Amino acid sequence: MQFKLKTTVVLALAATCGIAFAQEEVVKIGHVAPMSGPQAHYGKDNENGVRMAIEDLNAQGVTIGGKKIKFEIQAEDDAADPKQGTAAAQKLCDAKVAGVVGHLNSGTTIPASKVYNDCGIPHVTGAATNPNLTKPGYKTTYRIIANDNALGAALALHAADKLKLKTVAIVDDRTAYGQGVAEVFKKTAESKGMKVVDQQFTNDKATDFMAILTSIKSKNPDAIFYGGMDVQAGPMLRQMEQLGLTKAKFFGGDGICTAEIAKLAAGAKTLDNVVCAEGGASLDKMPGGKAWKEKYDKKFPGQFQIYSPYTYDATFVLVDAMKRANSTDPKKYIPMLQKANYKGVTANIVFEPNGELKNAASTLYTYKDGKKAAVQ
Ligand code: ALA
Repeated sequence: MQFKLKTTVVLALAATCGIAFAQEEVVKIGHVAPMSGPQAHYGKDNENGVRMAIEDLNAQGVTIGGKKIKFEIQAEDDAADPKQGTAAAQKLCDAKVAGVVGHLNSGTTIPASKVYNDCGIPHVTGAATNPNLTKPGYKTTYRIIANDNALGAALALHAADKLKLKTVAIVDDRTAYGQGVAEVFKKTAESKGMKVVDQQFTNDKATDFMAILTSIKSKNPDAIFYGGMDVQAGPMLRQMEQLGLTKAKFFGGDGICTAEIAKLAAGAKTLDNVVCAEGGASLDKMPGGKAWKEKYDKKFPGQFQIYSPYTYDATFVLVDAMKRANSTDPKKYIPMLQKANYKGVTANIVFEPNGELKNAASTLYTYKDGKKAAVQ
């Protein structure tokens, strides 16, 4: 009774004094990544980035079109499977989310990008690196990391020019990502005079690489390039050690450049042979990297892998465009997304006309005592 009376008094006062209470509107941001299956550790890290961004945005208080906005995540799982990827994308289209962060794998992101284009909802990936993603030129597709043309080439140049390696065996997991990054590496390595002495294939569910590695061992290459994810690379390193393939350098793209690979390699010394590439600056060189990482680790202890700073920025980039358009309607804010100039945690984010990040950095890493360290 007393409460009711107070509320009435406050409302009456507000009305007499002409104070308008801003209406609150819930705006959904979709996120898609593998949350189940062997790649769930990447998905969890990516989703954490979006959750943290939404919490920060809601704490800041965002007003768009005269309404106070409460952002909410609609989190979907694609299990790194292309079919589940398009189904998740369709679900987010049907739910009319304002924008999407994702997906994680190129194999899911490329087919999903068509679904988003068809329903007119923009998506920003902070993880999928296959260059083909931006080829169709959809106004709804954006990437805020370097693509595999940069990563594959940087790795091959390091192998040929810096380490003076002459021979390499190439393995990939036949996914859009693994196959794509392996092709770029191969082309650049060959252009630099390196010889591909063996080429083998696996898949993103495999755990036994003994047959492949036995074939490779007989060719005695200076290096192995693996196009795929840490789920396979970790056990592969362990099996290399078992076979005595301990001298070969082990190259791979961002998919193997995680914290988890150290665990998956389960103490194999061959982890020290890894050289991997990531499509951004190292955390300590990112504009807001160090402070951000401390905050993340407090919130999600032991869950950091690789892409969460990018999914955090991807969320902010979408909302920044909504603010400048003064609308959460994709039709109205997409033109502002195209003109993004946003100072993020990872970089200053400006897009090329095709949705690729302008001036994307990339960094090579190795592992020392089980910890990832940037190559100086
Ligand atoms: N960069 C990896 C991919 O594109 C995760 O699939």
